[in-house]
Amino acid sequence: MKKLKPQNGQWAGESALLPLDREDRAFVAEAVHRIEADFARSADTHLIKLELPCLAATGIDLYLKDESTHPSGSLKHRLARSLFLYGLCNGWIRRGKPVVEASSGSTAISEAYFARLIGLPFIAVAPKSTAKAKIEAIEFLGGSVHLTEPTAIYADARRIAAETGGHYMDQFTFAERATDWRGNNNIAESLFSQMRLERHSAPAWVVVSAGTGGTSSTIGRYIRYRPQSLGRTRLCVVDPENSVFYEHFRSGQRDLRLECGSRIEGIGRPQVELSFIPSVIDRMIRVPDAASIAAIHWLESVLGRKCGGSTGTNVFGALQLADEMMGRGETGSIVTLICDGGERYLPTYYNPDWIRAQGFEIAPIIERLEAFARRC
Ligand SMILES: Cc1ncc(COP(=O)(O)O)c(C=O)c1O
Repeated sequence: MKKLKPQNGQWAGESALLPLDREDRAFVAEAVHRIEADFARSADTHLIKLELPCLAATGIDLYLKDESTHPSGSLKHRLARSLFLYGLCNGWIRRGKPVVEASSGSTAISEAYFARLIGLPFIAVAPKSTAKAKIEAIEFLGGSVHLTEPTAIYADARRIAAETGGHYMDQFTFAERATDWRGNNNIAESLFSQMRLERHSAPAWVVVSAGTGGTSSTIGRYIRYRPQSLGRTRLCVVDPENSVFYEHFRSGQRDLRLECGSRIEGIGRPQVELSFIPSVIDRMIRVPDAASIAAIHWLESVLGRKCGGSTGTNVFGALQLADEMMGRGETGSIVTLICDGGERYLPTYYNPDWIRAQGFEIAPIIERLEAFARRC
């Protein structure tokens, strides 16, 4: 049989082109049932109202949708569920064959969860800098981890899938299309329905960061799909330092490349990913990495909990928008996400030696955030 070429960024293993036999069909039916049953056992994630009296007094309310409470600990739980259903129903995920993914960790943890649920081997291909706790979490869920250079994760994942006859999930291509953006309790539908009894029920801004771009694509499309939000809600995507998304949004250039990986785990990419859809975004803000780290330290003092670095990027961007709204005398609500908890990052973002080694000066930024929260 002749060698297959990648299609739409996808390398289908040769066996993936064979029609499903009776046992394959029974496997797909059982796997889909297990994933749906797991979903039926799940609770939705909470929308936390962040009590910042200075903001509330000026008519601005800030909310955090807490995606850290999924069983696999991050917003990637939703994506992994969608990618597994998409791969199974497309005939790409096959009985007894491994699922392989290129991931900075969070997606791999969630995919390891679903691979174990349906009884398939799972191999994560992750950058060398991935937090140790994330690697341990993947292994705890029965997955194995292949560490490589940040720019080599795609090629290595594709190669390993081809060598093992497995399926390369390819979140960076398929995240935006695997998720049912019109509803089906996706993150956007959940967020907008949880806001319905608030004083500013249609958010002025939803603020998210981008790894695959799947979350921003789902929320951006949903805003346009729902006439009641289209006129009132804008989507802002915040981007860390080592990422091409901001420049791509600004210039439209596609062939951007960076050699270094993002220091904010899970977000910011060295190349423009197919799943990142700039046309659904109203605005992007570049957030300095030191500000993202400072923001999670400040947030801990307000929330009483540690969060991951991308939550800091989100919160810093949301506060910048709140500041601008205050300056213009506008009222309204801003919603952003807690992407994952901070426990996975104790040796990095919560370690003063690591922070110093990066050259970050977070104390003055924390003071500015405290002053902002005390203002008015
Ligand atoms: C911790 C964390 N935050 C945010 C994101 C961004 O989500 P998305 O991939 O939907 O753009 C990711 C993606 O991997 C992540 O791992």
